[in-house]
Parts: sequence; structure tokens; C-alpha cells
Amino acid sequence: MKQPFFYDITLRDGNQALKKPWELRDKKIIFEKLLELNVQAVEVGFPASSEMDFEACRELSLMAPNHLVVSGLARCVENDIVSAVNSIGEAKKPRIHVFLTLSPFHMKYVLNKDPKEARQTAIKAVKFAYDEIKKVNKEGEIQFSVEHFGDCGENLDFVIDTLKEIVQAGATTLNLPNTVERCRPGTFIKMVEKVRENIDDFVTISVHNHNDLGMATATTVESYFTGAVQLECALNGLGERAGNTNFYEVAVALHNSGVDVPVDLSKIYETALIVAQMSKVPIWEKAPLIGPDALAHRSGIHQDGALKTKDMEKGAYRPIHPSLIGRKDDEKMGITSQSGKTAIFEVISNAGYPITIQEAIRLQPIIKEAAEKVGELPTAKLLDIYFSETFNVKGDFKFRHLGYLDDGIFEIEFRYKNEEFKVKGEGNGPVDACINALNQSGFKVKLLHYEQNSPDTDLKGAGAVAQSEIHLEDETGNEVIGRARHESTAIANVKAIFNALNIMNKEKKNDK
Ligand code: KIV
Ligand code: ZN
Repeated sequence: MKQPFFYDITLRDGNQALKKPWELRDKKIIFEKLLELNVQAVEVGFPASSEMDFEACRELSLMAPNHLVVSGLARCVENDIVSAVNSIGEAKKPRIHVFLTLSPFHMKYVLNKDPKEARQTAIKAVKFAYDEIKKVNKEGEIQFSVEHFGDCGENLDFVIDTLKEIVQAGATTLNLPNTVERCRPGTFIKMVEKVRENIDDFVTISVHNHNDLGMATATTVESYFTGAVQLECALNGLGERAGNTNFYEVAVALHNSGVDVPVDLSKIYETALIVAQMSKVPIWEKAPLIGPDALAHRSGIHQDGALKTKDMEKGAYRPIHPSLIGRKDDEKMGITSQSGKTAIFEVISNAGYPITIQEAIRLQPIIKEAAEKVGELPTAKLLDIYFSETFNVKGDFKFRHLGYLDDGIFEIEFRYKNEEFKVKGEGNGPVDACINALNQSGFKVKLLHYEQNSPDTDLKGAGAVAQSEIHLEDETGNEVIGRARHESTAIANVKAIFNALNIMNKEKKNDK
């Protein structure tokens, strides 16, 4: 199978559909990006369309590296062809691209020519273009497009016979556009296949698919597997109406199918952002590969799979690893009412805060309830919930004061519901003493584990330097984690115990 030949049409079909077509300096920026992507051919414009486009096509042709095919569009009209030859003829590899419709509908209602006349017009134009380009550049070549090829199902034999004569007249590339996407991919590729079978092998078959029904990528990719080597695509899918075939989607789809794609895929994302900015056509949130939301997972099942395969080349719920196209932002976990514990865990720990999966399970219903009201929670809101439900847990217990008396004896003051407690507890430190004091007061808990560290992340207004994590077990064997921060390590420990007690109480209430 031949390597695909990427023929970019952003500067012509894409440009002609912009609300404000590009000037030379804009075209130069896009042209540089196309060179970085390593495309094989660029259609730089339609030189006869305006003085500005003529000049732009000329400048770009002179900038083009030796290996690049530079193409200019022309109708089957001598003036257009002369204009194209004059503007791009000095490129190392110039190509004059002439086009004419051969669809019965368009020949009759738009061109006002009968098929015989249309055929003669096309052949004559191709001969003329061939002679003109060869006069100025021996490397020059001719591409002919059957505009509305997708509408030629009923007269395909006529089209093929015409194309044979067009090849004799000098064309070496035959482009088959689905100019308006009326033809479904399966039908279109059968037509492409038939042309391929009937045309000499030295001729390159090309496809150019518009995206009116959103199937242009499928049609282009499948056309390649049926023998169309030249693929006409546009950056960001720019082009008339709903646009042309999206360059990135075709390149990545072929890459994923094991085809050796001769473009630098890692330049895709950066290029897409620049094209969006320059064209003023924003990238749709859900645009495949490049959309801001194209790497987001919001349902628990997808988040779980995505996180389990995060660093793998193949991911559970993505077509590529984002780095393939130069995306640095990676998969994003959106927290909504549909989200799962693993995503909650991931977002909080990525923000630099301590959390266990057990705590994420505990937070999930609280987060779900908040998200049901407002939709996706911004990370700041998620962290607010986490702080208040982990570091500052409101409940029946309220820690008031910790005092050191003497000889390992501490005095702990707290409130439980409406009752105030002032209890002395003995132990080898405030944690031990506090647990003893609680047990004496009738609150039976067992210390399973505790640790302290100095956090890297600030906790709103806490001005904290010590962070405690306490694991307590209640009488039924249920384990709960309490956390706290305070300038005093002793108070951080005791506060963590009371946060754990409030969590324990809430869980008991929920169980009832
Ligand atoms: O869509 C189309 O048919 C075209 C031709 C000029 C190739 O853009
Ligand atoms: Zn087009």
C-alpha cells in the first residue's frame, strides 16, 4: 500500500469560507505550520480570485521547500489558468488544479452545458494548463477535479471515459470530490474504486470530501484503503459550509490503523490552536482529538477505566494518548453527579491534598448532592467540600481546649450535643491522653494509627504548619480517618480526633 499523500486545502477551500479571508501575512503563518506538519502538498489559493490572493500564492510558492507540491486553483477558463501559472509557476513543484463539474444535475442547472460540451471544456482546459505550465516549469503538473463527483453515480461510465481523455490531455492527478456530502461513504468508495480500476496506475487518485453530514473523515479514510493515495484535508476541518475533511482526524485514524503516516502528528494540537485563533472559528468543545472537552471523563465507570490505564499508550476510554498530538493537558476528570470515587480521589490528590480512597467513597454522596444542583463542580468547589468534610467537620462533637497539667496528664474540654465535658486524660502524649479521656466519658473509640507531617499546600486561612491523620475504630469495628491542621502539633492531633468522631457519628446516622 502506498503512503498517503497529504494535500492541504486550508489556504484555499478553508480560506475562501472564512468570514474574513486571510492576507499574505496570515497565510504565511499557516503555511509555516503546514511545513512543520510535513504535508506533501499545499493548495496555496485561487490566484484569479483577487490581486491579494495572486500575490499571496506567488510569495508562498517562492518560500516553498523543494520537496513540496504547490498548487493553485483555476476554473476551466484561460484567464484563471494563466493567472495560476503566473503566480505559482516558479515553485519547485508547481501544480495547476483545474476543475469542472460532470454531475448531471450541475451540468444541466449550473453549468448550462450538455455532457459532451462539458467534457470538451475540461479536456481543452487541461491541455491548455499543461502547455502553459510546461512553458515556465518542466516540473509543473496538472490536477483535474470532477466537481460534485459524489453526485455522478448515474453517469459514472461517462465520467470515467472523460477522465481517461483528461489523463491523455496531461493530468496526472485526478481528484474526486464529494463536493456536497450527499453520497454516503460506502457508495462513494465504490465509485472511487471503479475509477481506480479503470485509470492507469501512474495517475494519482485523490479525494476531497466536504463534511455536510459529518462523515468526511470516514469517507476519506476508507477511500485511502480503496486506492486513493492523495487525501485532501483542511486544518481544523475549515472549508465551505460544514467544512472539509479534518486533517488531524484523517492522519490519526490512519496512524491508528497501522499506516505509516508521513506527517508530524506531535504538531497537531499547537497547530489547531493557532488556526482557531487566526480563523476566528473556535474549536468546538467536543471536537475529536483537539476539543477542550475531548479528553474529559465524567462518569464513574469511564473515570475508573481511564485512571487505571492513564500512563498506557492505549487507554480504556480514549483513541490515542494525548501526547501523540502534542497535547499536554492529558485526560481530565470532570466532577459531576455521575462521577466516581476514583476521580474524586485523583482530583483531590492532584491538587496536593491528602486523601484515601476510603475518604473519597465517604465524600462521593456529598459531592453528588452538590453537583446535582449546579452541574460540574469546579476544582475549587470540590476542594471546599473536601476541606469542610475532612478538616473542619461539623457535628455533635466540638473540641474546645487542650491543656497540659503535669506528669503526662492533659485536660481536654469539649462539647457533645448540649453537654460540656472537662476531662483529665493520662497517656504518653496528647493523642493517647485524649483517647483515654473520651473513653472515660463514655465515647468508646480505639486508636488504630496516627501520623503527622508538614503539608506543602496551604489550607485556606489555617496558617497551619502541622497536619495530622488519625485512624479511629468504633465499637462495631468501623474505621474512620480524621484530619486536622494547626500550628500546634498537639492541637492538630486532638482536632483530628474530633473530626474523626464527627465523621463516625454522621456515618452511624446515615446507617440508621
Ligand atoms: O469541493 C470541491 O469540489 C472543490 C473543488 C474545487 C475541488 O473544492
Ligand atoms: Zn471543496
